[in-house]
Amino acid sequence: MCGIVGYIGDKNSVPIIIEGLKRLEYRGYDSAGVGILENSHVNVVKKVGKVSILESEMTDRPINSTVGIGHTRWATHGAPTEENAHPHFNNDKTLCLIHNGIIENYSVLKKDLLKKGYEFYSETDTEVLVHLIDSFLKKGNGLLKSVRKALVEVEGTYGIAVISSLEPDKIIAARRGSPLVIGVGNNENFIASDVTALITHTSQVVYLDDNEVVEVYKDKFKAKNIKDEDIIKEVHEVTIALDEISKGGYPHFMLKEIMEQPESITNSMRGRLIQEDGISRLGGIRNQIDRIANSKRIIISACGTSWHAGLVGEYMLEQYTGIPVEVEYASEFRYRNPVINKDDTLIFISQSGETADTLAAMKEAKKKGALILGVCNVVGSSIARESDAGVYIHAGPEIGVASTKAFTSQLIVLALITLLIARRKNLSLVDGQNIIKELESIPGKVQRILELNKEIEKIAEDFVDAKNFLYLGRGYNFPVALEGALKLKEISYIHAEGYPAAEMKHGPIALIDENMPTVFLAPHDSVYDKIVSNIEEVKARKGKIIAIASENDNTIDNLADYSIKIPETIRMLMPVLNVIPLQLLSYHIAVKKGLDVDQPRNLAKSVTVE
Ligand code: M6R
Repeated sequence: MCGIVGYIGDKNSVPIIIEGLKRLEYRGYDSAGVGILENSHVNVVKKVGKVSILESEMTDRPINSTVGIGHTRWATHGAPTEENAHPHFNNDKTLCLIHNGIIENYSVLKKDLLKKGYEFYSETDTEVLVHLIDSFLKKGNGLLKSVRKALVEVEGTYGIAVISSLEPDKIIAARRGSPLVIGVGNNENFIASDVTALITHTSQVVYLDDNEVVEVYKDKFKAKNIKDEDIIKEVHEVTIALDEISKGGYPHFMLKEIMEQPESITNSMRGRLIQEDGISRLGGIRNQIDRIANSKRIIISACGTSWHAGLVGEYMLEQYTGIPVEVEYASEFRYRNPVINKDDTLIFISQSGETADTLAAMKEAKKKGALILGVCNVVGSSIARESDAGVYIHAGPEIGVASTKAFTSQLIVLALITLLIARRKNLSLVDGQNIIKELESIPGKVQRILELNKEIEKIAEDFVDAKNFLYLGRGYNFPVALEGALKLKEISYIHAEGYPAAEMKHGPIALIDENMPTVFLAPHDSVYDKIVSNIEEVKARKGKIIAIASENDNTIDNLADYSIKIPETIRMLMPVLNVIPLQLLSYHIAVKKGLDVDQPRNLAKSVTVE
């Protein structure tokens, strides 16, 4: 949520900030703004809407400023207006600030500041912080000390950047709960919410940790913690190529990311399959494998699509390892004082590694002494760094707000974790080798499904005006039904629900009529006949049926209005294949409705607020 960029060096800061904001736009896109130091003044320009609108405004002004900060907003407090857009000024306009996160005690602080005579021009929580910093400046403190003292009074989360005409040689950045990195350049330095905003300028980055405040100059940076103690920060090398974060000729990131899946899945498995031993090699959890295998219970916690991956993980782990598994929404888990024992293993799944609820759930679980594993995509993200051990999914940067390739890579990594634990327990060499054989065949099978793109696009044409959709599946395919429904609703704004197919007769069947399309996940598996009975029940009520079925299934054509035939695999890996047509179906319906699939309304890629 919200993207932050800052630049200090010898170049014109504005184009660098705008380019960075465009790369961060997936984090929020309801308004954008820049604050720059120009001729000993702080100037702020803000616009409602996307960064391109701000960019056009800025190109009309001749600017040469070598210090600046920029922000793209996902509104929390206050509507998406120019007044509420960041940066926010102090009253005498010597200082401006951008913020990602939520100041929870803002109304108490605001009352106090109003009493002191501060004037407010926005409805945001952020404006409180800039006045609070100003109040410490007015007491004669320097900028760094004022920021630090203000942050001590703040409850909630923040990633901030501050510039001031009184100390024009620096940007102050600070973090608690909202990600922030410093990009280290040659006589220039950068600040950003994530490294994708920096990689055209530098590959050297420093990840800030919670409660750290940094003074960033053009040729150095100094980090302290909030208690004013000096901290030595490590510089990391990042290896993201530019083509990984561009559309590469596709009309949308989402389509590119769907089409990339044979490669992203291969990358998730690369170097991790040992065929002769029928086992996976996962360096990140190697030292903990005995503790994991001996766990009395595994709890998986996540949000959204990652939670759906967790549900599939539950089926995999219980089938192959015999360890009881629970799957929890992170947002519920963190607040209900869950029973966690020292011999439990907790797996937190997050594409971004920054989701506020997942991170908070993880911190809560850590306090109770259980083993904490992270399954993340973004290298160096908060969840990855704060877990005891973990496995990166290596899907590559995912920019489209709707998660696609990260989901399939999460499933692959959960399969690899399952295989590793299962081989430590009872799974035979031959069974392990069979799983590996199937895993190796998955990228090719995904490729064959992607070749059905045109066929699926044609089906999508008939559903552009649908108001509701039902997705049904059993066993491993129940979470896929949930994921299919989520994909459709988030980018097409069509109401969709996923259900275990057998639950249909306990309620949802009342919705079925000729206007209700139902997507059935109907591969040839042990519950195929039962799914066919559910299809018959829908057909009897004139519901429209789209079936995702096995490629050798000839009977389904007589039952379904539309059938999409895909290759078969073992049960545990079926979700990886079955979700692909659902991703394409949602994508094409949304495109045909003329919607912005990469940046759907009200959403943001990385949900760093509660
Ligand atoms: O980065 P995370 O995996 O932690 O994100 C969790 C959810 O916010 C995310 O999966 C969300 O549901 C996506 N928009 C789904 O497409």
